[in-house]
Amino acid sequence: MPEKTTISVIKCDVGSLAGHHTVPKPLLEIGEKRLKKAQENGLVNSHYVFHAGDDLELLMVHKRGENNPEIHKLAWNTFQEAAKKASDLKLYGAGQDLLKTAFSGNIRGMGPGVAEMEIEERGSDPIVVFAADKTEPGAFNYPMFRIFGDPMSTAGLVIDPDMAGGFKFEVLDLIENKKIILKCPEEMYELIALIGTPGRYTVSHVRRARDDLICAATSTTKLSLIAGKYVGKDDPVSIVRTQHGLPALGEVLVPFMHSFFVEGWMRGSHWGPLMPVGLKDSKCTAFDGPPRMVALGLQIAHGGIASDDQGNPLISDLFDDPAFDLARREAVEYAVTLRRMGEFEPARLSTDAMEYTTLPKLLEKLKGRFKPA
Ligand code: F6R
Ligand code: MG
Ligand code: MG
Repeated sequence: MPEKTTISVIKCDVGSLAGHHTVPKPLLEIGEKRLKKAQENGLVNSHYVFHAGDDLELLMVHKRGENNPEIHKLAWNTFQEAAKKASDLKLYGAGQDLLKTAFSGNIRGMGPGVAEMEIEERGSDPIVVFAADKTEPGAFNYPMFRIFGDPMSTAGLVIDPDMAGGFKFEVLDLIENKKIILKCPEEMYELIALIGTPGRYTVSHVRRARDDLICAATSTTKLSLIAGKYVGKDDPVSIVRTQHGLPALGEVLVPFMHSFFVEGWMRGSHWGPLMPVGLKDSKCTAFDGPPRMVALGLQIAHGGIASDDQGNPLISDLFDDPAFDLARREAVEYAVTLRRMGEFEPARLSTDAMEYTTLPKLLEKLKGRFKPA
């Protein structure tokens, strides 16, 4: 029987340093302390704590399956303690994403973002964990399509007979809370018709068509839909399996060789160019951005992450690489171009998306002053 292992990435903006900018060391240390203890107690087999901009990211590998109450509680308690520390230090936006108070077994729908994947370990299982700041779950639509659906990007779709059957995309309609599965290449146009609207439709899972092998899982939390108003951006995470009948690591990274536009920059109200960055640059600055993404490469092994002799997980900081310099440069150029437009569309989001920001408050103020024309 192949081993079943679960990868859980749970993240939360618990408060940050110098505005919505970065997660300072004391909060990361709380994450490390709690997860280390959980590992010593045998709840998780491996862990890695990092941050994407102002979001604290907990990567946990364990044997308890998806939506496990103990794993979710571990994340919840860690975020609570970190938020308390943030509050003591008077850091900015302390507890920002902890939207609900009483934990009842599952962290989904409470504010933090979750991507989880239970896998049967293959002979060797290389994984990429992506985490972004200042954007929404739909930011993964375009790269997911390029990775699993676009033969001009993933050569394996053309060359590797193991991928010839294509991939199935599970797409969520975040507004109506429904899902649909569309298969590529047969339903490629229908897929693009939906996921080309990233603010509403979002790719939640990808499976290999011929055997339903799970290949990708993405967080789908829309904070504004939980809170009913703008409370900060969703800042999604994603887990992608690679190699041996799946897109190669290098094919998974191809979409990030160029910058592309995502929703959610400054006040959740602007389009911005996505900038792939190494962990050292995982902090948002100019106009609270530009929206950034980090990517970690690792191997799942024996229920955990392949680790060194001291038990430290072997992690590769994938975007810390000159191969993404062009994308970073493009992101800066696009950012400057958009910012030149100020509050004029298309730099600012469309009216629909602005409904979930603070703009309606302003419109309310002007309401009485409109006269029939
Ligand atoms: C937070 C974010 C930021 C804030 C902005 C205003 O996730 O995206 O761009 O929206 O810094 O924040 P406040 O209103 O808290 O000053
Ligand atoms: Mg924040
Ligand atoms: Mg954030």
